[in-house]
Amino acid sequence: MTQKILVLPGDGIGPEITAQASRILAACQARGLDIEVEEGLLGGAAYEVHGEPLPAETLEKAKAARGILLGAVGGPQWDKIEDLSKRPEKGLLGVRKQLGLFANLRPAITYPQLASASSLKPELVAGLDIMIVRELTGGIYFGQPRGIEERNGERVGFNTYVYSESEIERIGRVAFEMAHKRGKKLCSVDKANVLEVTILWREVMERLAPEYPDVELSHLYVDNAAMQLVRAPKQFDVVVTGNMFGDILSDAAAMLTGSIGMLPSASLNESGQGMYEPCHGSAPDIAGQGIANPLATILSVAMMLRYSLDEPALASRIEAAVGTVLDGGLRTADIALEGTRSVSTAEMGDAVLAAFEAQ
Ligand code: NAD
Ligand code: IPM
Ligand code: MN
Repeated sequence: MTQKILVLPGDGIGPEITAQASRILAACQARGLDIEVEEGLLGGAAYEVHGEPLPAETLEKAKAARGILLGAVGGPQWDKIEDLSKRPEKGLLGVRKQLGLFANLRPAITYPQLASASSLKPELVAGLDIMIVRELTGGIYFGQPRGIEERNGERVGFNTYVYSESEIERIGRVAFEMAHKRGKKLCSVDKANVLEVTILWREVMERLAPEYPDVELSHLYVDNAAMQLVRAPKQFDVVVTGNMFGDILSDAAAMLTGSIGMLPSASLNESGQGMYEPCHGSAPDIAGQGIANPLATILSVAMMLRYSLDEPALASRIEAAVGTVLDGGLRTADIALEGTRSVSTAEMGDAVLAAFEAQ
């Protein structure tokens, strides 16, 4: 059956990087992958045309798609929109929530060729392979009540950090399953020394543990976890945490791999439908220059093939092509070694495509 794929280029470097990833998707199609690809508007790009970041048309297309490939949304030109519900980021959060994409997988893998591009010592990161499992449709991002209001003559801002047992349990199961298939270690990250919501989080993780006897469960407070991640990152296999902690820890983990331009992600719901995007944002500081690293987005296509399209062989082929290109010494500016020439976004795309075709 033909599967529908929706590409949402978004804002800033989004269109530049999705253009390269779309070429890889087309190459898969040419090799028999039965997909139908269409494009849509999300974020600031959608706001400019429709006055809202998630137009009904985009949401409909997203619901009908098996896989969504997203570039990134947001940019300084939209940061002053007073109505928060119209900001580009709300478009992204809307797709996640409306499609129930609660399980966000963020793999931090250090390609051996890039160990020296990391800001940590190469021996600390060489061979690193961590999977961060971030809860994506709950927690403080979505909790009610929220707002900014007048109280006692001044404005106060407030948000609510809330998780139900069932929300914790379903992300816990994803993480335990993942650990079971990988290195059998699961570290749950919380702030159970201060926040009730994460006392419950820890309790539920403990309750699930006996169902996965081969997985060793440990717990860290988030401040310590952040420190451990840069002190000795290879101690981790799978990390499970809530929405905001996962957002922060995954950006930190990105630097272990050499660049935030290397970190792909998958956001899945219970039926395996997924949105795939680099972990980074729209990088307004380099947008339009053709120098962004497209590899996180290209690797996100590989994750789409693996998690939503059941094509692990094609996924591995893309990952191998990225390895080949890095072996050849090709680098965009963010991962370039001192004194080496860096290539453009499109040149990197050309090279990955050529390596993919050559296999
Ligand atoms: P950012 O991730 O966009 O950029 C942080 C730094 O990393 C910048 O210096 C940027 O140039 C660099 N960078 C990011 N991606 C890169 C790539 N592929 N190649 C080379 N360098 C890269 O984070 P920010 O500056 O905090 O946010 C910018 C905008 O993006 C904001 O509007 C924010 O809300 C949005 N954002 C969107 C997403 C998303 O769509 N998923 C994620 C994060 C941030
Ligand atoms: C990410 C981003 C988003 C998040 C923003 C843009 C809403 O930082 O995908 O990591 O916080 O989830
Ligand atoms: Mn983020």
